[in-house]
Amino acid sequence: MPKSPFYITTPIYYVNGKPHIGHAYTTVLADVLTRYYKLLGIESHFLTGTDEHGSKVQEAAVKNHMTPQEQCDTTVGNFIELWKKLDIYYDDFIRTTEERHKTIVRKILQDLYDRELIYKAEYKGWYCVPCERFFTEKDLLEGNLCPECKRPTNELVESNYFFKMSSYQEWLIDYINTHPSFILPSYRANETLGFLRQPLGDLCVSRPKSRLSWGIELPFDKDYVCYVWFDALVNYISAVGYMADEKKFNKWWPASYHLIGKDILTTHTVYWPTMLKSMNIEMPKTIFAHGWWLTGDQKMGKSLGNTVNPMDMAEKYGVDAFKYFLMAEMVLGQDATFTEDAFISKYNTDLANDLGNFLNRVIKFILKQPSPIIPEPGINDDNDIEFKNEVMNAVNAMETALLEMKLNKGIDAVIASVRAGNRYMEKTAPWKLAKEGNLERLNSVLYNTAEALRIISGLLYPVIPEKASVIRKALGIGDEKLIIDDLRIWGKLKPGISVTDTGVLFPRIEIEKNEEKTKEKALSAPIQVSENVVDMISIDDFFKAKLKTAKILKAEKVTKTDKLLKLAIEIGKEERQIVAGIALFYTPEQVIGKTIVIVSNLKPAKICGIESHGMLLAAKIDDKLKLVTVDGEIPSGASVG
Ligand code: MSP
Repeated sequence: MPKSPFYITTPIYYVNGKPHIGHAYTTVLADVLTRYYKLLGIESHFLTGTDEHGSKVQEAAVKNHMTPQEQCDTTVGNFIELWKKLDIYYDDFIRTTEERHKTIVRKILQDLYDRELIYKAEYKGWYCVPCERFFTEKDLLEGNLCPECKRPTNELVESNYFFKMSSYQEWLIDYINTHPSFILPSYRANETLGFLRQPLGDLCVSRPKSRLSWGIELPFDKDYVCYVWFDALVNYISAVGYMADEKKFNKWWPASYHLIGKDILTTHTVYWPTMLKSMNIEMPKTIFAHGWWLTGDQKMGKSLGNTVNPMDMAEKYGVDAFKYFLMAEMVLGQDATFTEDAFISKYNTDLANDLGNFLNRVIKFILKQPSPIIPEPGINDDNDIEFKNEVMNAVNAMETALLEMKLNKGIDAVIASVRAGNRYMEKTAPWKLAKEGNLERLNSVLYNTAEALRIISGLLYPVIPEKASVIRKALGIGDEKLIIDDLRIWGKLKPGISVTDTGVLFPRIEIEKNEEKTKEKALSAPIQVSENVVDMISIDDFFKAKLKTAKILKAEKVTKTDKLLKLAIEIGKEERQIVAGIALFYTPEQVIGKTIVIVSNLKPAKICGIESHGMLLAAKIDDKLKLVTVDGEIPSGASVG
């Protein structure tokens, strides 16, 4: 593990509405990672904040009959309140309307202008208000639609200031190619490299005040304000003392991770690196793009009106349970689907049944003994050693998962060790040992289970700090600093310490009886056989087609046609290429990371001269097409049928 300081950032959020699960997810992830790095003994700095300039905020202010500053001051409270509720432990919260930030943005602009890296020119382009971006005519979809959000753009001609981004194109391509952990997951690096195959233009970094007044005024022209993305990206350095506090800046920069959602990849992996390069500042170590939380197969978003309110979820089910689900359910990099049913099911399985049960059994059993203390263990037998090894494996798995940014895998390994704990209880049957008066074995078993709980609660602490602390207190572990070295060593729990009750930490969530009944009804309903039985096939016919799950690793448009995407897919250990007629319905970016269903034993064929080995399944009606995907996480190569 690297011992250099750990500096992690989240995107800074627009203050035009209430925070939703997308915001909560990245911030919880940053919080959890910071807590893990602290556990590893690494000095850490966690920055989050709000992006308060630009047309989105100005428009929200008009709508809410406020000044833009009032809009910011009101909405920022929603974020701060949510972070407090979710027990988010950030080190700094930056608002781009703060003087400490604005001063630095102005200094950078002036410096680049003086060095002629920012120049004035006339610009004609197509502007998308929601995305705050200009596009050229060739970027637009069907007429004048924005290629990002697919909403109409407006044509604008104006004089503006430009940053000479184009001059860094070759350098950036080379940097990405020679720094494999600069953009992660690696398929996102490929996406950026794909974007960089087109000539890179210069970046328009100003907005005339006549059109947008809510922004940082350009130091060299009072008729313009700074483009919101140029302003916002600077937060990552202004907050840690760039041009203000050299010592602080040198301590934390370069950032270890900029965590972002996959929709803001270009701004972070093209604009930001070129800006840094122009300022002669070192690159951040890793820009990590996570996937989206979806409802069905749609992105959740304010404009779509299908968001999950994190405050409501935390109120209803508890903060730790909500954070646990976010961290355990999403494979970092890929999209995940949020449903309350999936939440309840994971909660009941992992927390109420597995962890809750194990905890309850151990604590209750010790409390029932004549002396309710951590007992002195005797000699370990094979069962004990096997169990101990499973718990120690979880410690290693969590460390590896952190390094590889595969948190869900680390959590899975810890829950696997909890399940091993429940099995160990069954095998060793301490209740029998107590009846037989076999105190030496009984003490060993109870000690081992309590010791496992010490390690497990330590490993889960960054995700569920409140509940993990309750477990630790029950085992008599005080407030001493939690460090990984203590979790790597078996036998740190001190015999003789009194154990106390935890109460029920994760009460089972009962699905409403009537909901269950509806489900039962649906299951027991007689199967309706259609009278229209022509073209029926036998089950054997059906199984001739070998349907399998496949993960899309890469995707790109096939040139000279607007219908086809060329996909690199993974089917278990095998990698293949297929060509699919879905380009009118999905962009390459939207499909990367998805787990789809394919006919794996279709004879290879050439489509538009490109080899295609297999066919994906999609549902189509009228002019709508949706990929067939699987409900939840399953590895590629699984058979479908
Ligand atoms: N202000 C810019 C970021 C500037 S950073 C220098 C911005 N703000 S945002 O509030 O619109 O979005 C912030 C983050 O939320 C993005 O990383 C975005 O990917 C994430 N999410 C928004 N909806 C999401 C989901 N449904 N799921 C997961 N994250 C998504 O962009």
